[in-house]
Amino acid sequence: MALVTVNELLQKAEAGKYAVGAFNCNNMEIVQAIIAAAEAENAPVIIQASQGAIKYAGLEWIVGMSKIAAEQAKIPVALHLDHGTSFEQCVQCIRAGFSSVMIDGSQYPLEENIELTNRVLAVARPVGVSVEAELGKIGGTEDDITVDEKDAMYTDPEEAREFVERTNVDSLAVAIGTAHGQYKGEPKLDFERLEKIKSLVKIPIVLHGSSGVPDEAIQRAISLGVCKVNIDTNIREAITGAIRKVLNEKPNEIDPRKIIGPGREAAIEVIREKIRIFGSSGKA
Ligand code: G3H
Ligand code: 13P
Ligand code: ZN
Repeated sequence: MALVTVNELLQKAEAGKYAVGAFNCNNMEIVQAIIAAAEAENAPVIIQASQGAIKYAGLEWIVGMSKIAAEQAKIPVALHLDHGTSFEQCVQCIRAGFSSVMIDGSQYPLEENIELTNRVLAVARPVGVSVEAELGKIGGTEDDITVDEKDAMYTDPEEAREFVERTNVDSLAVAIGTAHGQYKGEPKLDFERLEKIKSLVKIPIVLHGSSGVPDEAIQRAISLGVCKVNIDTNIREAITGAIRKVLNEKPNEIDPRKIIGPGREAAIEVIREKIRIFGSSGKA
């Protein structure tokens, strides 16, 4: 199948009350693992690439690998830019073949975020590419932030209403207590805030920093309107754990396939598990 848009997948997810997994890729093995897991679960899936992934693998390589993966797959696959930071980068990704982009203007004041998101929408819509925006600041687990600072970073429901009214963006990433990377303790999600946002905003909500969030919390967030769940760190942990095991057990092994291959297998397992938790198994 050709690449589909994230919007198309999220519309179905919203109606079916499940979420589509959006998994970060950096290399061929991760792309293959995402597709193998989604096919095994008969689930729709989103391959996403960050700035770092594009810098590491190259834009055309990410698109090339994802297109081959989608063409050979029996399930719908979208290719999404994760945390795009500029208008120019979104245009480059659209031109290269991404079916969806995120424009992350969350570090800017509301007016500038709206203006930037609208500029991206103006070029994405006519060519059938979907757009995700972010409101509120989703930090990293390494950032040392106080409770007061956290509150200031979380998405304001009224601002979310205004943002969506003035952009008509396809989906919105919100800050409700998750963070990127490995959590030190157990993350506590602000479900009340999510519920309020969803009562004012009628578009699919995106949850970032979802690795390490307890399964029940993810499922509760999905029941309150989250339709796209982003996972990166858990895939990194699975791959690196498997590779480390091989290197420890077979210190003389030099065939990269026998070292990296088990990493790919471990990634398939963790992605399958996530797909089941998100309720998108059998929804392809
Ligand atoms: O949103 C962050 C993702 O985990 C991507 O991380 O920029 O290191 O590729 P990265
Ligand atoms: P994690 O690495 O915490 O799973 O976050 C992934 C993410 O939000 C990518 O945008
Ligand atoms: Zn993110």
